[in-house]
Amino acid sequence: MNRTYFWHGGDYNPEQWLKMPEILEKDLDAFQKAGINVVTLGMFSWDTLEPEEGRYEFGWLEDIVERLYERGIFVILGTPSGARPRWLAGKYPEVLRVNERRERNLYGGRHNHCYTSPIYREKVRNIDVELARRLGSHPGVLLWHLSNEYEGACHCPLCQEKFQEWLREKYGDIGRLNERWYTTFWSHRYNTFEEIESPSPLGEMDLHALVLDWKRFVTDRTADFIRAEKAAIRTYSDKPVTTNFMYDYEGLNYETLKADLDIISWDSYPLWHRGEEWRTALDTGFQHDYFRSLKHAPFLLMECSPSATNWQPVGKLRRPGMLFAAAMQAVAHGSDSVLYFQMRQSRGASEKFHGAVLDHYGETTTRVFREVAQTGAALKEIKEIAGSSVKAEAAVLFDRENDWAIQEAQGPRNAGMHYYDCVKKHYQALRCLGMDVDVLSADAELDRYKIVAAPMLYMMKEEQAKRLREFAGQGGILILTYWSGIVDETDLCYLGGTPHGLMEAAGVRSKEIDALYEEEENSAEAVRGNRLGLRKRYRCRNLCDLIETKGAEILMTYQKDFYAGQPAVTCKSWGKGKIFYVCADFEEMFYKDFYRLIVGTIPGLQRVEAEEGISVSAREKEKKRYLFLINFGRQPLRAEVPEKYRCLFGSGKMPMEPLSVYIYEMRLE
Ligand code: GLA
Ligand code: ZN
Repeated sequence: MNRTYFWHGGDYNPEQWLKMPEILEKDLDAFQKAGINVVTLGMFSWDTLEPEEGRYEFGWLEDIVERLYERGIFVILGTPSGARPRWLAGKYPEVLRVNERRERNLYGGRHNHCYTSPIYREKVRNIDVELARRLGSHPGVLLWHLSNEYEGACHCPLCQEKFQEWLREKYGDIGRLNERWYTTFWSHRYNTFEEIESPSPLGEMDLHALVLDWKRFVTDRTADFIRAEKAAIRTYSDKPVTTNFMYDYEGLNYETLKADLDIISWDSYPLWHRGEEWRTALDTGFQHDYFRSLKHAPFLLMECSPSATNWQPVGKLRRPGMLFAAAMQAVAHGSDSVLYFQMRQSRGASEKFHGAVLDHYGETTTRVFREVAQTGAALKEIKEIAGSSVKAEAAVLFDRENDWAIQEAQGPRNAGMHYYDCVKKHYQALRCLGMDVDVLSADAELDRYKIVAAPMLYMMKEEQAKRLREFAGQGGILILTYWSGIVDETDLCYLGGTPHGLMEAAGVRSKEIDALYEEEENSAEAVRGNRLGLRKRYRCRNLCDLIETKGAEILMTYQKDFYAGQPAVTCKSWGKGKIFYVCADFEEMFYKDFYRLIVGTIPGLQRVEAEEGISVSAREKEKKRYLFLINFGRQPLRAEVPEKYRCLFGSGKMPMEPLSVYIYEMRLE
């Protein structure tokens, strides 16, 4: 794949404009004006490509690919499986999805199909093969985009059967499943695999291990469908494949899906201007880092809105400069593209008011178009950075299976366990220290990092605990928290003390955990003369772990309630490293001070000091390090850029104006 320049473009649906050829012609001119070099075609085009079963009409698509190519615009080719034509659902009702109440859906919408249905698979395969045969080796086609935002689950009889098969393969015999699922509880023992049904509000929802396995199964089913689409493409094309992932999407474990994709891509729709932009930027940055870390490689920003996003509660316009700053943030975090949804705004149906590069007015004089063009020019200017990678020395673990398990667990706080928020507090504190951070699953290799935060690892598999121990043992700094090492992979509680597998290493045992009402809080104060140098008192909410220490130093103690004076933060040396244990859900200020002090003890970390609001990130390639500074604050802010950096893009003048972007380069010895 070509990584010598950034891809700039987005989703384009010429099939909506075939009766207005003059519009298509005008679009191509406009694309060139805006420095568009890639568009995504074929997304949701099934009916135009195959208006009747087996009758293909590919001429319009071949024609547009050709015309784009003549103008130096490349194509990401979508397979149309994200939405099916009416004739398909009419003739073969089994392709429609069945919901958890066992009701078959009516025709309509997207992703309203069964991933198991042999007929759906066959029809998808036929059209995918046809696409690959006709366009799979066209020099203008860069990449396959399988379907669109795979999502959801189907509970039809065919899927139930597959689920039973999946379980049989996993557990071998029903006795083992009963044991692992703890079915003695409420007399829910199964006699055969055939008796098992997917979770339903009409039936079983309380066997947490069932729900967990169902979620794993749904991911595996989707992966199987992805492989089927990929195999269809491979009959005639060896171009790389991707599919677009979504923001914090809980329905699938992307960790599992990544193996079948050549490159990761995702769709980013932040609620810009809702509150302070730098907070939105941190949240978006977390997602960029998560998607980049899946393969430790450049990813693609597959979609973002050039203006309003019409499915959000409020379709706020992006203030001048926001489109550009957000685009550059993606690049700063490792994206090799800035792609928009959509190139031309549709005239009808549900996305007619969604932001687009070309709106209904259709001219290139609009504010949005000008900013798109500015982004295109900037990407061209910095093209040498494309293909470079991010080398983070810090990592935060965010694990989807753990997230599922925490949500299902029932207790200690059904009013909100705040796993995502907790992970983000650790992440943000590290990021605000001006360093890159990888976001990893609990199964990731940790050798390359100097500091790893593993908050709320409620579900702790034996190998994961072992890896964490080894990481610290070999000199890493590990941060653990409350609600860790409680259950195994089928949500069975560990006996004999928690955090399981880490009690000895961290020198703590959790005795009980207190859950606080929304209106309640506690606080903790630093123990005088503690070795980390914590000095203040900090508020905490939601969850307070009551621990006993065995060999760990107590850095802070609770101030209120019956556990006043008991440990709230601890630290213990383990091998060549250290393990910190944070007992409560603290206010943000705590994490900021805590990580600043910890990072201060790690020699040689790569970081740049900047005022809060400036995002700092870096990419590396061929002996060069590129530093990106973006001011997401609302006032001018400063960063201390070391002298060895030379400014490549932007004035480099301090303070930086809001939404300004500076890029520097430095030679690596
Ligand atoms: C998603 C889809 C697109 C489009 C956009 C609108 O990300 O992938 O097809 O519907 O949303 O924001
Ligand atoms: Zn199904």
